[in-house]
Amino acid sequence: MTGAVEPLVTVLLDPDWASGSLVDDVRRGLGAQPRRLPPKWLYDDVGAGLFDEITRLPEYYPTEAERAILHEHAADIAAACDASTLVELGSGTSDKTRTLLDALRSPERPTGPLRRFVPVDVSDATLRDAAAMLSERYPGLAVEAVVGDFTLHLGQLPRGDRRMVAFLGSTIGNFYVEERRAFLGALADSLEQGEWLLLGTDLLKEEGRILAAYDDEAGVTERFIRNCLTVVNRELGADFDPGAFSYVPLWDRRMERVDMRLRAEEPQVVSVPGADTSVELMTGEEIRVEISTKFRPEGIRAELAEAGFEVTGSWTDRAGDFALTLARRG
Ligand code: SAH
Ligand code: TRP
Repeated sequence: MTGAVEPLVTVLLDPDWASGSLVDDVRRGLGAQPRRLPPKWLYDDVGAGLFDEITRLPEYYPTEAERAILHEHAADIAAACDASTLVELGSGTSDKTRTLLDALRSPERPTGPLRRFVPVDVSDATLRDAAAMLSERYPGLAVEAVVGDFTLHLGQLPRGDRRMVAFLGSTIGNFYVEERRAFLGALADSLEQGEWLLLGTDLLKEEGRILAAYDDEAGVTERFIRNCLTVVNRELGADFDPGAFSYVPLWDRRMERVDMRLRAEEPQVVSVPGADTSVELMTGEEIRVEISTKFRPEGIRAELAEAGFEVTGSWTDRAGDFALTLARRG
């Protein structure tokens, strides 16, 4: 017998979330101008695997930069907050998070070791694997995984026990401006006064390095973006020909973000039976799949303040590529 306790897994997505929510997104997004597909559809099992590959690409600096900050400063972060529960939104493999968990589990921590970890992700299989691995690695830590959508389920996450919500990987940069404001507002609403947010953001830097991170030589990012068409094909019986699209990453200087699009290389009519619709695309027409916003430190502060958070600490890597910001719900 080993002492390992099975992680608890709560599923907040209803069984036909994928098809139901995707129907709405496809009707609204693909029917609109400009055409759009929300990024959560990038992370099926294939997409989650491709994302994992992205984090190990030589051009993709954010993961290593954030990991370096955690290696250097996790103990400072753990000492600067009194959280007993860590909630991680969009946790994926929770790979970097282990450094934070190590620090938060330290018996020397003034407020005692962390008691509970709540990873939250839409990617069911990735989440279950990560939860099982973590409950084995941290005996005594209650792992309560939630299969859920952080744009829908913030109000239903476990409460109490002074939480810190970690939102790493600059996933916040994948929201459009309005969505980001709504998300931060909803997050603040879902927290009690004095609870914590640890936010990872990729910082604005020279354009060439940014674009290269989303346009890698090996073409993994391109496959990752293209995979959203395969998801719509599978879930809604659509007949997208992924090969009829080219991948177009652009740097939007005014909005300070990378804009990742798929461009139709030939005129086509795509039928989407599951959403009772069809989409007619002209040559050169684009579908916006994902953005990745780059932040300025003063912008991060201002947005957090507007949402009701007070910044109590911030750390960057030596090159100043990435920031981790600790904030408290006021
Ligand atoms: N935190 C990890 C992974 C970032 S990738 C890192 O820093 O490397 C973004 C993660 O968020 C993926 O695991 C994806 O499945 C998840 N995700 C995307 N949209 C989501 C949503 N709406 N709700 C919950 N999880 C989401
Ligand atoms: N939050 C990550 C980022 O904006 C997600 C990401 C990494 C990503 N690589 C990507 C999203 C490629 C789309 C395409 O960097």
